[in-house]
Amino acid sequence: MAKFGNSIIRGLEIRDIITALNRAYADEWLAHYQYFIEAKVVKGIMKDAAIVELTQHAADELRHATMVADRIIQLGGTPLLNPKEWFTHTNCGYGEPEEFDVVRILRDSIKGEQCAISIYSQLVDMTRDKDIVTYDIVSQILADEVGHEEDLQALHDDITEFIADLKKSLN
Ligand SMILES: [Fe+2]
Ligand SMILES: [Fe+2]
Repeated sequence: MAKFGNSIIRGLEIRDIITALNRAYADEWLAHYQYFIEAKVVKGIMKDAAIVELTQHAADELRHATMVADRIIQLGGTPLLNPKEWFTHTNCGYGEPEEFDVVRILRDSIKGEQCAISIYSQLVDMTRDKDIVTYDIVSQILADEVGHEEDLQALHDDITEFIADLKKSLN
């Protein structure tokens, strides 16, 4: 544990930061797996573009899990040790893909990103001016999640527009 490094934290209980980070850690692993499996099962028009995006997001969520785990350890905590705990600690839950259609998968993923954005904005608010190191980490992750939502929304809009144009040209 970074004793001196942690002594600069002001106005926050370290154990509360660890609890909140472990919840985010659970979210990241579940998001990683959700993207991983969506990239495998996705079907339909322009699915190759979706696979590229989903695979990139899976890698980003795993990188976020690493960033969060490293910070939990610096704070003297232990990242969740058992995957079963992901389901009891998650904020955003796990969105098991029910339909594999590319548009449906993108819509589900956008919802997941919107949840991640609201959780990381809460973490930014919690740590601002109090725990500057965690604040920096959660701010970086928040920026990535906003980028993720944008990437998925842009792809979703391109695909739905393409389908609409195709339908028009067939009529
Ligand atoms: Fe993430
Ligand atoms: Fe994300």
